[in-house]
Amino acid sequence: MPLVTTKDMFKKAYEGGYAIGAFNVNNMEIVQAITEACKEENAPVILQVSKGARAYANHTYLVKLVEAAVIETGLPIVLHLDHGDSFETCKSCIDGGFTSVMIDGSSHSFADNIELTRRVVEYAHERGVVVEGELGTLAGVEDEVSHEFSTYTRPEEVEEFVSKTGVDSLAIAIGTSHGAYKFKPGTEPQLRFDILEEVSRRLPGFPIVLHGSSSVPQEYVKMINENGGNMPGAIGVPEEQLRKAASMAVCKINIDSDLRLAMTGTIRKFFNDNPAKFDPREYLKPARANIKELVRHKLVNVLGCNGKA
Ligand code: G3H
Ligand code: 13P
Ligand code: ZN
Repeated sequence: MPLVTTKDMFKKAYEGGYAIGAFNVNNMEIVQAITEACKEENAPVILQVSKGARAYANHTYLVKLVEAAVIETGLPIVLHLDHGDSFETCKSCIDGGFTSVMIDGSSHSFADNIELTRRVVEYAHERGVVVEGELGTLAGVEDEVSHEFSTYTRPEEVEEFVSKTGVDSLAIAIGTSHGAYKFKPGTEPQLRFDILEEVSRRLPGFPIVLHGSSSVPQEYVKMINENGGNMPGAIGVPEEQLRKAASMAVCKINIDSDLRLAMTGTIRKFFNDNPAKFDPREYLKPARANIKELVRHKLVNVLGCNGKA
């Protein structure tokens, strides 16, 4: 099976009350860990590549790694551009084999976001590629763009945005944010389900996307801190709230930081336990195994997409 788009995946996910995991990939071990877990759980998956990942690993290497995963697993896999920041970046990914792109116009005015997104949709749809747009701003850091404060999505804008742009899915801001420091220590993390409900009332059957959806597993924060790191007060989105979102209109849930924590925690511990070792395969192997188990947990207990490939 070749790379697929999100069309069929999102339709089934919406109707089935589950979500597809969209995991960020930067190297071979991460691609292998995610797709091996998906293979064992028979789960469809979105592998997403940020501008930073393309700069780090090179477009062609990432496309070929993902194509290798398609051959190895036979699963329905989407190759998606995460946080495309310009028409040119989206065009380069569409021309270069991606089956889905995000154009993140959320830092522009409403009118400019519509115009930019509409242009990308026109180019993408002519080539069979699907497009994710964004309305509202997440707190946290996306590539070089830093948003100190989030602006919740305004439900009254979503119908006009979707009808004027023709996007296939819409990322909304309901309280999640990027990175490992999402909520203040001591506060009760709470997503704005009222906004999600109002958005889906206005866009019946339309797939919604949640960015910034890492849960920041405390066992990995602890593993980092016990092995020379210092991550005080890292708090993520409670998994029960993500599960609830997945049962509603949310069809795509973006996870990156949790994978980074699993990888870094494992490698830090490895070096503390084995200070004389230096073969990269020896420390990348347990890191890959722990990412795989983390992804399996997300598929089965958070997203509910196991058995849906
Ligand atoms: O939302 C951002 C993703 O976590 C990608 O992060 O831009 O550092 O690759 P990155
Ligand atoms: P996290 O930082 O919560 O993993 O979010 C990732 C993301 O939204 C990628 O677009
Ligand atoms: Zn994001």
